[in-house]
Amino acid sequence: MPSTNRALSSSQVVNIEDLRRVAQRRLPKSVFDYLDGGAEAELTLAENCRAFRDVIFRPRGAVAVADCSLKTRVLGHELSFPAMLAPVGYSRLMHPGGEVVAARAAGLAGTVYILSTISGHKMEDVKGGSAGPVWYQLYLLGGREAAEGALDRARRAGFSALVITVDTPVAGLRERDPRNGMKELLGPSLLAKIPYMPDILAHPGWLASFLLDGGVPKLQNVVLPGKGPMELVDVAAALSHAVVTWEDLRWIRELWSGPIVVKGLLRGDDARRAVDEGAAAVVVSNHGGRQLDSVSPTLRALPEVVAAVNGQVEVLMDGGVRRGSDIVKAICLGARAVLMGRAYAYGLAAAGQAGVSRALEILRCDLERTLRLLGCPSVAALDRSYLEVPPAWNVR
Ligand SMILES: Cc1cc2nc3c(=O)[nH]c(=O)nc-3n(C[C@H](O)[C@H](O)[C@H](O)COP(=O)(O)O)c2cc1C
Repeated sequence: MPSTNRALSSSQVVNIEDLRRVAQRRLPKSVFDYLDGGAEAELTLAENCRAFRDVIFRPRGAVAVADCSLKTRVLGHELSFPAMLAPVGYSRLMHPGGEVVAARAAGLAGTVYILSTISGHKMEDVKGGSAGPVWYQLYLLGGREAAEGALDRARRAGFSALVITVDTPVAGLRERDPRNGMKELLGPSLLAKIPYMPDILAHPGWLASFLLDGGVPKLQNVVLPGKGPMELVDVAAALSHAVVTWEDLRWIRELWSGPIVVKGLLRGDDARRAVDEGAAAVVVSNHGGRQLDSVSPTLRALPEVVAAVNGQVEVLMDGGVRRGSDIVKAICLGARAVLMGRAYAYGLAAAGQAGVSRALEILRCDLERTLRLLGCPSVAALDRSYLEVPPAWNVR
């Protein structure tokens, strides 16, 4: 058995936290912390996960579930189970296969992969690598012209939906990154890297694969007119000029005829605005606690958004999903499906495509077991009656 597969065997990797530990061993601290960390005091990062504990199950006893269906429809796609792969920037630093192998694993598992603008592989290769639906997540990095070029390529390549992230008017302060010298490590000066090198050298496996892959990748899908692909080190500065407003949504809608998903909402009134602006779905998200800290955990924000859109568009959510039972709780509270970020990215960092597949397998098995233990025959039959929600949440 190859060593990566042994490291992922079902006795070694039972849950997502186990995959996180394998990723932590393989990655230099700077890369692991970029993936694992959150903004400022990391309050929201912790609360996203903790909020799932506040909601408890009310199972139905003495129910035999013969055929347990996990299928769900999202924007017209039939998914084999209601969890999709969220856009995760810098994936190619986690593993050379990066976005291509993550998309391939998603397609094999019968679900959607969402490609971040901050990606090291060309979008055509990512789409070509997956047998399933792939969506494109747009930041206005490099301005309107660069975005127009990306949308044109995404349409030609066959991306089936566009995700507009609206919670990033500037990059959040992820305090672990400056301490680890992330900017220096991504930048051109060898001298500036020296203080941070011991940790990189302590991870020879990662270092060898990074060097063989050609070093720091460029942003292949942000092509600056007359200059070519944007450098990764320029992202933080570029994000501060890349705010997306409701007005931008209008010109984007003219260029993109497919469905548009607005990601990064936490309030009912914003969700209504997204519906009025023509969104086909919204994602209740706080960016995995990486942007504004001290905002509501997403599970708690979900019911307000579900009530506000009143069935007019599909509601997705992300943040803190680490177990199949988390997916069940989100669906009982009105989400059509969840997005997972770190849960699959830990797998990617641990072992490339095999690691992503293992993460998806863990969550799918969890989900089916949870449904059977709840006495519920299908994802479609989940509702509020299976949950006890704290009264302070005011969920009807
Ligand atoms: C390392 C990392 C990079 C991310 N990059 C992006 C991005 O480029 N675009 C985006 O819209 N969201 C990005 N996100 C946020 C995710 O899409 C998602 O909202 C978040 O990870 C969900 O929380 P979870 O990690 O607890 O599942 C990123 C998240 C992580 C962990």
